[in-house]
Amino acid sequence: MALYSETVMDHFRNPRNVGVIKDADGVGEVGNAVCGDIMKIYLKIEDGIVSDVKFETFGCGSAIASSSMATELIKGKPLSDALKLTNQAVTEALDGLPAHKLHCSVLAEEAIQAAVKDYYDRQGIAYDPKEFPDCGSCAGCHG
Ligand code: FES
Repeated sequence: MALYSETVMDHFRNPRNVGVIKDADGVGEVGNAVCGDIMKIYLKIEDGIVSDVKFETFGCGSAIASSSMATELIKGKPLSDALKLTNQAVTEALDGLPAHKLHCSVLAEEAIQAAVKDYYDRQGIAYDPKEFPDCGSCAGCHG
């Protein structure tokens, strides 16, 4: 069996939503201290909906595929859904990742959470810190 699914290869070769949103409403940047990969997510929010999302990922193929899939999964969805996106959901949508690459999908989950948190902070929206359990725990978090 191939190490990577066709879906992973597709999103790695043709990543969706790559780029920057200059007037983003929320930006989240996280990194993994072990592998050194960095992921940045930009959100545009309209009426509580993720109207646009873009990413920049300096990392491995699995991180790029995870970012691409994660952005597809939250685009057009309510912010509350984006916040609930788990790395398991990203991995499942990619038809799996090798065990030693699962942390790449965690980066996508954390980057989206950091971007939502940034949006809440900018808007002065109160939130329960427990909604962001991982935020600040990773070495590369600037959120
Ligand atoms: Fe670290 Fe993929 S090897 S994000």
